[in-house]
Amino acid sequence: MKVIPINDARTLAPQAGPTPPAGAPLVDRRGRSLRDLRISVTDRCNFRCVYCMPREVFGSDYPFLARRELLSFEEIARVARLFVARGVRKIRLTGGEPLLRKDIERLVEMLAALDGVELTLTTNGVLLRKMARRLKEAGLTRVTVSLDALDDATFRRMNDADYPVEKVLDGIAAAKEAGLGPVKVNMVVKRGTNDHEIEPMADYFRHSGHILRFIEFMDVGASNGWKMDEVLPSREVVERIGRRFPLEPVDPNYAGEVAERWRYVDGGGEIGAISSVTHAFCAACTRLRLSTEGRLYTCLFAQSGHDLRSLLRGGADDVRLDAAIAAVWQGREDRYSEIRTAETAALRKIEMSYIGG
Ligand code: GTP
Ligand code: 5AD
Ligand code: SF4
Ligand code: SF4
Repeated sequence: MKVIPINDARTLAPQAGPTPPAGAPLVDRRGRSLRDLRISVTDRCNFRCVYCMPREVFGSDYPFLARRELLSFEEIARVARLFVARGVRKIRLTGGEPLLRKDIERLVEMLAALDGVELTLTTNGVLLRKMARRLKEAGLTRVTVSLDALDDATFRRMNDADYPVEKVLDGIAAAKEAGLGPVKVNMVVKRGTNDHEIEPMADYFRHSGHILRFIEFMDVGASNGWKMDEVLPSREVVERIGRRFPLEPVDPNYAGEVAERWRYVDGGGEIGAISSVTHAFCAACTRLRLSTEGRLYTCLFAQSGHDLRSLLRGGADDVRLDAAIAAVWQGREDRYSEIRTAETAALRKIEMSYIGG
């Protein structure tokens, strides 16, 4: 077994500049505001997607985090409230697979009580039939479901855990029935692995009310064997679909939206293209990530995080916690996707299952 250790956490050093007055929005060194908080609630997953948790690395003896190492719901809710006071307007629960976290609906309920926040969750979908209604009742706004192929053999090869595609499709249906739609469906495209599924997926989700998004395969983590040759540029994805089903561009829903939007000319709905490799969107990146064990990561490709848990468990009051959060955001300079090279791609970065997609 090859164990990839979590990178050492940086300690939270006091910030050079002063903490802005309570309630003032935070701006980083590149002028970007803090708007989105992505919270990973577990590093475990029932899938072993080849681009995220390859089985050779995440085997049966992989040392996942012990329960006491995870932030508790109370700890998460406490910091989330401080983030909201600093301008966060969207919270996304991720993992690993967030629905594997015991009693997750209790956390949903706690976070849904925060004013003015959209609360979403990214899941592989297999537990949605069982949980969608409870999640909706607890106050979840919507869900995003990952699905990389319709062809069962291709799908099983990608999730590498023998889950049939039917299970995910049924989960998507359950989310819609529960009122958690429109469901966004994320397809990571790996050239030579599932790119033959682009047109079938587009065809299937047209006129369904769901929004299919194509994501370029990224060099996250240190174990997914990323190669540029396996990235299929979104431009080609859109061209291929457009040849079959004519498309036209749509304006973004909000500034800094990750997905570029396209709609079917015949009214069949819309798709999204997420081009994090070929067309970086760092300039408008307003996202901060809170890892399963309570570290703050200012970029999906960060090599280390800032340890918030020690402060939380060391008795820090809200003023101290808020100052630490402000310091992290104000010191932020990340723009990894804009400066990606073969060398940076080979760096040892935090695994996506610790900090979410
Ligand atoms: P909504 O508009 O609320 O649905 O959110 P979103 O468009 O940000 O979608 P989502 O959070 O589902 O992100 C979709 C995918 O985009 C993720 O699974 C990642 O693969 C990729 N992604 C999201 N945020 C970032 C980011 O900050 N950097 C990079 N490089 N990729 C990202
Ligand atoms: N490249 C692109 N997207 C990825 N995801 C996970 N790993 C990668 C990767 N290497 C996405 C999945 C899922 C979300 C959690 O992150 O599609 O939707
Ligand atoms: Fe699990 Fe999602 Fe990673 Fe797949 S992409 S292994 S479903 S966390
Ligand atoms: Fe934001 Fe980093 Fe992604 Fe750029 S690479 S969009 S800075 S998370």
